[in-house]
Amino acid sequence: MKKFFFAHFSKSTIIILSILMNLSNVSGQGVIIPIETEHNAFLLQTDNENRLRTVYFGGSLLHNEDYAQAKSMYHLDDANLGINNATYTSSGTWSIAEPAIQVVHGDGNRSLELKYVSHKKEQIDQNTSITSILLKDPLYDFEVTLYYKVWKSENVIEQWSEIKHQEKKPVILQKFASANLYFPSTEFYLTTFQGQWAKEMQPAEAKLVRGTRTIDTKLGTRAMLLQSPNFILAFDKPASEHDGTVILGQLAWSGNFKLDFEIDAYENLRFIAGINPYASEYTLQPNQTFKTPSLIYSISNHGTGEASRNLHSWARNYRVLDGQGERLTLLNNWEATYFDFDETKLTALFKDAKELGVDMFLLDDGWFANKYPRNSDRAGLGDWQENKKKLPNGIGYLVKEANKAGVKFGIWIEPEMVSPKSELYENHIDWVIRQPERPEVYYRNQLVLDLSNPEVQDFVYGIVDNLFTKNPELAFIKWDCNAVMFNAYSAYLDRKGLPQSHLYIDYVHGLYSVLERLRAKYPTVPMMLCSGGGGRGDYEILKYFTEFWPSDDTEPIERIFMQWDYSYFFPSIATDNHVTDWGKQPLKFRVDVASMGKLGFDIVAGELSENDLAFAKQAVSNYHSFKNVVWHGDLFRLINPHDHDFASLMYVDREKSKAIVFNYLVNSRQKLNTAVGPVKLDGLDANKKYNVKETNLYPGSRSMIDATKVYTGDFLMKVGINPNVSLWRTSVVLEVNEVK
Ligand code: DGJ
Repeated sequence: MKKFFFAHFSKSTIIILSILMNLSNVSGQGVIIPIETEHNAFLLQTDNENRLRTVYFGGSLLHNEDYAQAKSMYHLDDANLGINNATYTSSGTWSIAEPAIQVVHGDGNRSLELKYVSHKKEQIDQNTSITSILLKDPLYDFEVTLYYKVWKSENVIEQWSEIKHQEKKPVILQKFASANLYFPSTEFYLTTFQGQWAKEMQPAEAKLVRGTRTIDTKLGTRAMLLQSPNFILAFDKPASEHDGTVILGQLAWSGNFKLDFEIDAYENLRFIAGINPYASEYTLQPNQTFKTPSLIYSISNHGTGEASRNLHSWARNYRVLDGQGERLTLLNNWEATYFDFDETKLTALFKDAKELGVDMFLLDDGWFANKYPRNSDRAGLGDWQENKKKLPNGIGYLVKEANKAGVKFGIWIEPEMVSPKSELYENHIDWVIRQPERPEVYYRNQLVLDLSNPEVQDFVYGIVDNLFTKNPELAFIKWDCNAVMFNAYSAYLDRKGLPQSHLYIDYVHGLYSVLERLRAKYPTVPMMLCSGGGGRGDYEILKYFTEFWPSDDTEPIERIFMQWDYSYFFPSIATDNHVTDWGKQPLKFRVDVASMGKLGFDIVAGELSENDLAFAKQAVSNYHSFKNVVWHGDLFRLINPHDHDFASLMYVDREKSKAIVFNYLVNSRQKLNTAVGPVKLDGLDANKKYNVKETNLYPGSRSMIDATKVYTGDFLMKVGINPNVSLWRTSVVLEVNEVK
């Protein structure tokens, strides 16, 4: 067996590999590979057939040699039940379980066996390592490398696979998972998030029972509209904020995804996640590498609170573009004007933005197209020239006027889309995803451009590049994406003789490649990802965006729930919240809710009452004073609105010297005179002293919080503080400051 493996490597590689194998092959137990975070470990081990299997998941062991004993504590080898714990399950040979990978070899054979060849661990820095494991088919020149990138102190793992072959003819990949995990335990509780437009991210938790629970999407673009690739997996009991082992994870892919959670015959959990293989057979040429997207997850033994904080700090430090930087507060004109604006209206709004004290004005949809003007969502997408009637002096004039008014200027685009009523459609119908022989099917009256086509990629790149070339002072882009892919067919792939089944995958790669080019030229300009609300927002595309728009639903009570649920996975610095006129809550409530993230406004500020305007200005100024705690601090979810009439959460800075606590009444059906008892704060230093002051007070109202009192952190975390939320004080924001 070994002879075969080594036949493919140079002499020096053989030495390194055999050292690794010998080291790992402790006491004849096979090769043992622990994938360890600070507190947890997956243990991978070869069996006597040299297949790599997952034999343990749990706390990382103090004594390395103990790992060799773990496997013997489980009975996972009942031949009649099959092998379910393969680390990357192949198909067509010994496996009778759902595969991670399924192929048709160059000669038409559909069987695949993957055996362990070698592994290595690269230490990138003190905190980060990548373990890669090479698996090969003994019969075919076909290999898979499994990657585990570990950020030890954040307890975050990123897992992906690379598939390659040197067969004479192309191989068809029918399935190509990113990760294939196995968890031996007793009970599993899975929270998934479903939704639709303006109702994104609705959580549902259920105990997993035998069989498979699948979360998937086939929408192509705007992929998260109905199902989200985020999940919470809790071990032994339902997920809880403060205790228990949980995994918070996501498939980082902006296209079709599929997550299968299967309780198998051993009552263990098999979890396979990756690109959705639906209509996506991929032809792989010899020596070409197919790199899957990543499954990214954070593990905690202390509940979802710690897991989120770890994921947030990972995202800020290593993933979201400029995660440690600043963000621009803004006034957006979408709900203030919709498509109905001109230069006069806009320049008045610049003054409103300045008056409010925000950093920027954001011009939304409706500024472009002439032959088919963009005066509604029925025309013009694709024709990215300023509409001469609305904006006779162009974007350049607006940028200058905004700057003169003392604010920056940002702009909305939806570059991947086309209206059937547009010059782009008339001139480049072959750039449009549509079935030429069938009636077109629209989503929001529009169609998707074919980003698998390099010419279309150039066009999309050009839209942004032109805007910046002509207007170097442009400060911000909002990148929208409102349609899903119906009639998925690419004229380009056809012309090139490539299979249509590449479309869903090549589209996403095309999108990433445009973003890659843009970021090479414009590395820092902030860009907001939007997808008709929250249809997109994953950790692959957030490499290119500074923030995303979670939902068009800005009704503030709904929004408290939604922001709460997004907060499991995303740090506040990456989530944009706007104050709008949705719902019946007073301005104060709306501003307080929008302040739990990146604050923006989408209202006609000029029409606010005197008191509302005075409040809004003061609240923006307050926000500027505490925004760094919200953006860069640790989040503690204190009282869950799903379980109470009340919601409370707080952010604490790294030094534990400043915190900001948001409290809301979320149920006013009952006559609640005053809410419950005190709220126990979290994340403070027990030995430090603090005072607590109410902020964002509405003009004329008096706080019920005595700002002169001094409390220890210990007191605030054990007894707590009562924000005195009631029907008359539905929203209370508290600032906690260290007293020295
Ligand atoms: C959908 C977005 O979610 C909105 O904020 C707005 O930009 C519209 N598109 C514009 O068409």
